[in-house]
Amino acid sequence: MCGIIGIAGRGAVTERLVDGLKRLEYRGYDSSGIAVLTDGHLDRRRAEGKIVNLEARIADSPLDGQIGIAHTRWATHGAPNETNAHPHQAGRVAVVHNGIIENYLELRESLASSRTFKTETDTEVVAHLVDVELGKGLSPQDAFAVTLKKLKGAYAFGLIIDDNPDEIYCARAGSPLALGIGDGEHYLGSDAMAMAQLTDKLIYLEEGDWAIIRPTSFEIFDEADKVVQRDVTVITGGPAMAEKGNFGHFMLKEIYEQPETVTRTLTNYLDGSLQHPLMSEELDFKKFDRVIIIACGTAYYAGMVAKYWFEQVAGIAVDIDVASEFRYRRPVLNERSLFIAVSQSGETADTLAALRYCKENGLKTAALVNVMTSTMAREADIALPIKAGPEIGVASTKAFTSQLTALAALALAAATAQGAISKSEESRLTAELLSLPRKITEALELDLHIEAVAKRLSTASSAFYLGRGSQVPIALEGALKLKEISYIHAEGYAAGELKHGPIALIEDGTPVIVIAPHDELFEKTISNLQEVATRGARITLITDEAGAKAASQMASDIIVVPTGDPFIAPILTSIAVQLLAYHAAVHLGTDVDQPRNLAKSVTVE
Ligand code: AGP
Repeated sequence: MCGIIGIAGRGAVTERLVDGLKRLEYRGYDSSGIAVLTDGHLDRRRAEGKIVNLEARIADSPLDGQIGIAHTRWATHGAPNETNAHPHQAGRVAVVHNGIIENYLELRESLASSRTFKTETDTEVVAHLVDVELGKGLSPQDAFAVTLKKLKGAYAFGLIIDDNPDEIYCARAGSPLALGIGDGEHYLGSDAMAMAQLTDKLIYLEEGDWAIIRPTSFEIFDEADKVVQRDVTVITGGPAMAEKGNFGHFMLKEIYEQPETVTRTLTNYLDGSLQHPLMSEELDFKKFDRVIIIACGTAYYAGMVAKYWFEQVAGIAVDIDVASEFRYRRPVLNERSLFIAVSQSGETADTLAALRYCKENGLKTAALVNVMTSTMAREADIALPIKAGPEIGVASTKAFTSQLTALAALALAAATAQGAISKSEESRLTAELLSLPRKITEALELDLHIEAVAKRLSTASSAFYLGRGSQVPIALEGALKLKEISYIHAEGYAAGELKHGPIALIEDGTPVIVIAPHDELFEKTISNLQEVATRGARITLITDEAGAKAASQMASDIIVVPTGDPFIAPILTSIAVQLLAYHAAVHLGTDVDQPRNLAKSVTVE
């Protein structure tokens, strides 16, 4: 996750851009940089490390202008050094970028014969592409529009062009970007915090939007290049409200952050080319014949999904248990078992106690956490970050998908280490992981539809969630989400298990949410759907396009998530169950961010 800010101003911009970067430093600070148009000509300064290093660089060699862009980087790929720092420049073009361009290698190869690349990053290719179009005589606007159509991935950009003194070009697809409205000035930024000192009037660009901002005007275009109007949001209530942006709750903001947070997690577990899982010396899976995953609640469900990945992809046996039960069952342990604690907070007492128990029994311990200063991170032999950023909502969402993403990448690394998969299969599954930010972005576009489905669900007093295979944990997670924020009783079940008793509870109108992408278990799950439908259940089917074609007539409501390999399907269906629970709770008026009886981190056993 990186931070972007731009100013199309009346007065000097350098100092204000650097101030904006300081507000964005929480998004990463491997390096930072600034580019301005001074009398229309491009000038740039960059520095490795924290913003103070950039300030020193600017003090040594001042630059200023009325139009400028700036960026603070958390390295996705390409070492965190000055060479790879944004803004990247090629010819007349300087660009700052947040996100991943999935097809950057093929775009780079298409330019290799005519362009010289100076960095390892995906971003640089955007500057070259726009510069090539300018060289063909296209206007800046057309050159930018043409370039956007070639890109695949989840990204946000800010871009300026030498000898084009009054304009900043920007675009969003997956990573957030907002325009700011000033007095005779306009701004752009990754979030409200970046522009808090400049304005409280923001326009949040929508998926696929791009825009041109000038000191006294701006234009917004949709992905079909049609001029569109977008609502102005006035941020009131100070920094906390600014942090929530135009979201009603932190939970919804965090659901919408997932294209960005999954990007950040992904690039922490893939190598610099983004083509292979990162092999970690300290976590050599060849030394282990068993993985023990221990966690609580949502984190436990992430571990349950990981069991399928480690066993099916890497051929490594996995024991999984809730932390509060694990050590009391006197588990059989040996040094060829790797213990992994999964915990957003890194402070959950039950999970911490299990970690200590395994350390006392001589196991290698790892902690997959969101807080790298947490007790688990400090006490485990290996601390594995998920990089989801602070999660404020008590109901875990972005941490869950980042836990899943990290565990999927680790399972892939384990498979490679064990020689359990071919190079081509490893590349295929890595590409599936790399498509996640874009596909999560597409899943989020189901929000309005899911809100309507949730409104019907909110009238129920109880509900069932069914799944098979790696969708069973998602059924459990969906039920937990609904319970913990809407207070509607819900149970997640293996779809094949319902007929062994619980089906007695099905009566006319009982809501049953069936999670069934069109995979090898689809037909069996649909049979279970029919078993409950014939007994009066009201079916909501969460599936993909192929599943919808086969079974849409069997459901009262259907939610069609983007198609993905079974390897990533649980992450895509998670988005649907998160939004379903969120909107049911909002409809019922519960305290979504701080539900009754709950705490963000349960530090008592
Ligand atoms: C998730 O929505 C819940 N708030 C809860 O189950 C949580 O996942 C559990 O308490 C574990 O917390 P941790 O990940 O911080 O260890």
